[in-house]
Amino acid sequence: MTSKIVWIVGASSGIGKELARQYAQKGVTVLASARRLNKLEELTNEFPNQISAVQLDVTDTDSIQNATERVFNCDNMPDTIILNAGIYQPMSHTHFVAQNAEEAMMVNYLGVVRMIEPILPRLVNANRGKIVVVGSVAGYNGLPLSLAYGPTKAALINLCEALYIELIGSGVSVQLVSPGFVKTPLTEKNKFPMPFLLDVSDAAERILKGIDKGKFEIVLPRRFAYLLKIIRMLPYTVSLPLLRKLTGS
Ligand SMILES: NC(=O)c1ccc[n+]([C@@H]2O[C@H](COP(=O)([O-])OP(=O)(O)OC[C@H]3O[C@@H](n4cnc5c(N)ncnc54)[C@H](OP(=O)(O)O)[C@@H]3O)[C@@H](O)[C@H]2O)c1
Repeated sequence: MTSKIVWIVGASSGIGKELARQYAQKGVTVLASARRLNKLEELTNEFPNQISAVQLDVTDTDSIQNATERVFNCDNMPDTIILNAGIYQPMSHTHFVAQNAEEAMMVNYLGVVRMIEPILPRLVNANRGKIVVVGSVAGYNGLPLSLAYGPTKAALINLCEALYIELIGSGVSVQLVSPGFVKTPLTEKNKFPMPFLLDVSDAAERILKGIDKGKFEIVLPRRFAYLLKIIRMLPYTVSLPLLRKLTGS
């Protein structure tokens, strides 16, 4: 395990919570952040010597500033920061509400951007550290019901690619996690059948291994992600009807 101290943002539920558990089980020190302190306390009660809660709202700059100062003022700074906070509201053309898109962008994309601002100079000054951004395969292609969510993840992919290139040689690295469907409270609202659905502990295990390996992108499950990547490379005259057919829309 290359990570010794991990800060997980969006650790109160789903993938983030399971990552916190699995890291703690491996003896890694975890700083667990999210808005719901009572949910974070479930984790700290489970692993009192391993996990600490740091309450944080990624839409609130003061909250980010306070949390970052608290985390980085400790004797040991985190070597791995996982930016996992995200929200999902299915949205189609029949209920096109700009506010849904604004809220999703505020948390999923700008939340990551706001977190990176105070973290990056600290890591660059130390010449070490890893920022792991949780995106989604939903960022590869425009998909039905994903009119608010998909663009936030497409923006994250672009951001991570650019940051990765700029940070080569700095000692700081960026990794992008691209999950397909994972069974969590976030996907509970999906009424459609979710292909290649992963159990959350399986997903967290794959992410943990991927972070350790250090490759730029961690895709899970591979079959689903590669299928969508191939579709992305096809001409639109082929890919758009194919996606329509595959999603049954
Ligand atoms: N599940 C999937 O199939 C799937 C697939 C692809 C990508 N993803 C991505 O994986 C990440 C985790 O999703 P999940 O499925 O585990 O969902 P989840 O169970 O709903 O967890 C979302 C986490 O984000 C936190 N969060 C939301 N808004 C926040 C805010 N303003 N400030 C701080 N934390 C906030 C939540 O904590 P609080 O509410 O306590 O703040 C919670 O800990 C998301 O980025 C999601 O887009 C999920």
